[in-house]
Order: sequence, then structure tokens, then C-alpha cells
Amino acid sequence: MKFFIDTADIAEIKEAHALGILDGVTTNPSLIKKSGRPFKDVAKEICDLVDGPVSLEVTAVDCEGMLKEAAELAQYGDNVVIKLPLIPEGLKACKRLTEQGVKTNVTLCFSPVQALLAAKAGASYISPFVGRLDDIGQNGMEIIPQIRQIYDNYGFETEVLVASIRNPIHVLDAALAGADVSTIPFSVFKQLVHHPLTDKGLAQFLKDWKEVKA
Ligand code: E4P
Repeated sequence: MKFFIDTADIAEIKEAHALGILDGVTTNPSLIKKSGRPFKDVAKEICDLVDGPVSLEVTAVDCEGMLKEAAELAQYGDNVVIKLPLIPEGLKACKRLTEQGVKTNVTLCFSPVQALLAAKAGASYISPFVGRLDDIGQNGMEIIPQIRQIYDNYGFETEVLVASIRNPIHVLDAALAGADVSTIPFSVFKQLVHHPLTDKGLAQFLKDWKEVKA
């Protein structure tokens, strides 16, 4: 499973990238706002920093507007993936961009049938938001194996990109369900690495090593 980081914070991206296991970045308008920086500056910097795909989201809500924005976003780097909302106009734009050979990430997906529509429109990635489903009292992870099965049933190549991840269990369940990608907030990235027994075990090994004669 590929690991993307879900942030527009350059320091966080650099730290995750330094681990050597970062495959890409996803952003959205809220994350750009949180960065406190002009969109153009932050988008260009992220695209230059990371080799893998960088999702940048359109804000138009009509197909022609989305296509116009997509052309502008594509100028930030060869690795730009155009993020489109899962609304009828977004599906139209996805189809058109796919025909032009442009990579797309269809976002704000909350059901397996929505994911089927995005795949039929040729999406490169589908982003089901598991945490936001949990937030309204549904089991968000339930839709991931369903989407996996639908895509496998029909041989869709759209990658399942699990989004709105809140904790390491979401990452575990995404991997068990055969998701292609998890996009992970930096706070969860850090949680993935640590285990108290690893820290305790290492401290004991280092203590014992000091007592070993050379
Ligand atoms: C992914 O592409 C989205 O930007 C993100 O995962 C949304 O997460 P949130 O529900 O924590 O805002």
C-alpha cells in the first residue's frame, strides 16, 4: 500500500519524506488555508519537493471551470493530480481530463456506488472519506472492501485512496482491505511508527550493551 501525506505543511512533508516511505501528497482547500500561505507558492513547493503524485483541488463547481483550473494547476509540476469533487460536473470533468491523459483524484466520496461512478468516468484515484463517515455515526471503513470488490469485479484500474484517516486502525484496516493508498495526516504518520514496547526494548538492549565487554 502506498502512503501519501494529507497536508499542505512543508515542514510536515519534509519530515515524512525523510523517512523514505512517502509516495505522494494530497491537499484540499482547507489544508491550503491552514498552511497560511498563498496557494501558488505552497503548491509549487510541494510539487518540487515530492517525486510522487501531488493532488491539487479545483474550486470551480462547473465542468468548464474545473477544466480551466485543471490547466492552471497542471503548470505546477508533472506530478500534479487534479482533484475533483464527486458531483455530476466533477464526473464530467473527470471523463474529459481522462481522455486528455490527465491524472485525476475524485474526492468527497462517501458510498461504493459513488466510487463506481468515478471509476466509470476514468478516475485515476477515488478518495473515500472514512473519518467523516465515522463522525456521523457510520462505520466509514465498511465501504473500503466494498469498493475494492466492485473494482476487482470489473477490472477497474482506479486506485482506492483511503482518505479522512483519523488513527492507525484506519491505516491497518485500509491495508487489510487491499486499498492501494492511504493518505495520512502527519499526526497519524507519527503514531504509526511508535510502539511503547519498541522503546522499552531498545532502552533495555542499550543498557545491557553497556555492560558487555568489548
Ligand atoms: C483527502 O484527500 C482529504 O483531503 C482529507 O483526507 C480529508 O480529511 P478530513 O476529513 O480529516 O478533513
